[in-house]
Amino acid sequence: MQAEHPFIDWNFVTSAILILHGANERLPFEIISCGTGTPPRIAAFPMLTKKLLVVDDDTLFSTALRDYLTGETLTVFTASTAREALRLAREESIDVVILDQKLPDASGPDLCPRLLESNERSKIIFVTAYPNFENAMAAIRAGAFDYLSKPCEPEQVRLSVERCLRTLQLERTESVRAYRTGLEAKGVRLIGENGGLAEAARLTRLAASSDAPVLVTGETGTGKSLVARAIHYGSARAAGEFIAINCGAFPESLIEAELFGYEKGAFTGAVGSREGLFEMSEGGSLFLDEIGEMPLLLQTRLLNVLEEKVVRRVGGRSFHPVDFRLIAATNADVDEALGQRRLREDLYYRLNVLRIHVPPLRERPKDIPALAEHFLRMIAGSSGVEVLAEGEIDRLRAYGWPGNLRELRNVLERACLVQRGGPLKPSEFLRPAADAPRSQAAGGPSGEVQSLKELERKAIVRTMARTGGNIARSARELGISVSTLRRKLPAPTPAESK
Ligand SMILES: Nc1ncnc2c1ncn2[C@@H]1O[C@H](COP(=O)(O)OP(=O)(O)OP(=O)(O)O)[C@@H](O)[C@H]1O
Ligand SMILES: [Mg+2]
Repeated sequence: MQAEHPFIDWNFVTSAILILHGANERLPFEIISCGTGTPPRIAAFPMLTKKLLVVDDDTLFSTALRDYLTGETLTVFTASTAREALRLAREESIDVVILDQKLPDASGPDLCPRLLESNERSKIIFVTAYPNFENAMAAIRAGAFDYLSKPCEPEQVRLSVERCLRTLQLERTESVRAYRTGLEAKGVRLIGENGGLAEAARLTRLAASSDAPVLVTGETGTGKSLVARAIHYGSARAAGEFIAINCGAFPESLIEAELFGYEKGAFTGAVGSREGLFEMSEGGSLFLDEIGEMPLLLQTRLLNVLEEKVVRRVGGRSFHPVDFRLIAATNADVDEALGQRRLREDLYYRLNVLRIHVPPLRERPKDIPALAEHFLRMIAGSSGVEVLAEGEIDRLRAYGWPGNLRELRNVLERACLVQRGGPLKPSEFLRPAADAPRSQAAGGPSGEVQSLKELERKAIVRTMARTGGNIARSARELGISVSTLRRKLPAPTPAESK
């Protein structure tokens, strides 16, 4: 117990601990209570401390077990009657119960379901001095996890308790995963599916109902990743993993090991064996973003995996069967990528069975009001949604949106941050150069028409100059990915490089 201390502000201490705890949820403690001027009660984090209850009228047996099993990560309670056991089960959240077959006021199998009422996740180990088939069956039917006969070695009990705890941990991991999957699935909403995205949404539903590989194309920020998620969560594989990897973000030397996995000693640093993403996506979907950035040799190997449905890890001899659904995406011009031999034709034909093209935002301005409303609601969270000033929707509709939906979202976010309080004017944050093609017929300083490519090149060169050549920052400002920027990076003209 911590005593009251005149010089310590416990509220401050509590806040500091809460901040620490928020920053690292895995810190091994939790705040139980705190009040003005009183020291907070800090308890061991329940993930680490498990609770065991031994229910036996043979107090010699239960005390011996308590002394043997009590440790840093296990608190042991004892009870000699059913009544006492039920009280403890209600008051403490018991993880494992060691339950005697015969108690003075109840039988083990009768008590079992009542204990499970207090905590359905508890694991119960029956212990009996009268081992026989009927007793074992009664225990299992009553919901027992394990069955031991007396006299039993303490070590045998410890192993059984460990098995219970491992199972509890696995169950928790599984329920956390199911919860996360549910949240992610809920987060997938394609705005515009009855508007400018109708055809893409129709194909997305078609893709979800099949298991064929899919290729999603479209400019950066149009929603390819969201479409990939919609396919996965709408498919029969929704309960499996959705694993996404950006092929442009990995150096050539790493991506093979990442996808195929490796065996111990396959290369320097491979101290153990590891399964790759193909194997990890078992029963789920693998999303390979920016497929055109994948090294050509790996594209051939990917095609083999799709045909043969087996993988051989780097440095491995045996083949592992794989069962995943491939969704690939690219923001590059597919014909150009094929022409420049960055994308293998045979892989392309395999992927192109089902192709979904996500149109750029400038081709579907009618979706803008619904999208703006959707993004504003997302940005606001639980606080009140901001409203747009008059005429703003028209201004947003007239803009060229080179960064597509990502840019729209960024502009709205910026407006919410800077113009908080009044009606929002996100159009103040639009880039004039990107507006040019729609509002001024793409005129240059002397009125001559400039191509979109030229405007894009100028925007890139200007942004790179402003950020001092910082690729990551420039990509962020331009609303495109780093690899897209790298690909689009032009050689500066002598005038621009000055
Ligand atoms: N139809 C849509 N409805 C609602 N939100 C969308 C829609 N399309 C895209 N978004 C949102 O817009 C942003 C950009 O979309 P996304 O990341 O899917 O684009 P992308 O095409 O994969 O871009 P990149 O080529 O850079 O990978 C995300 O925040 C996404 O949730
Ligand atoms: Mg993406």
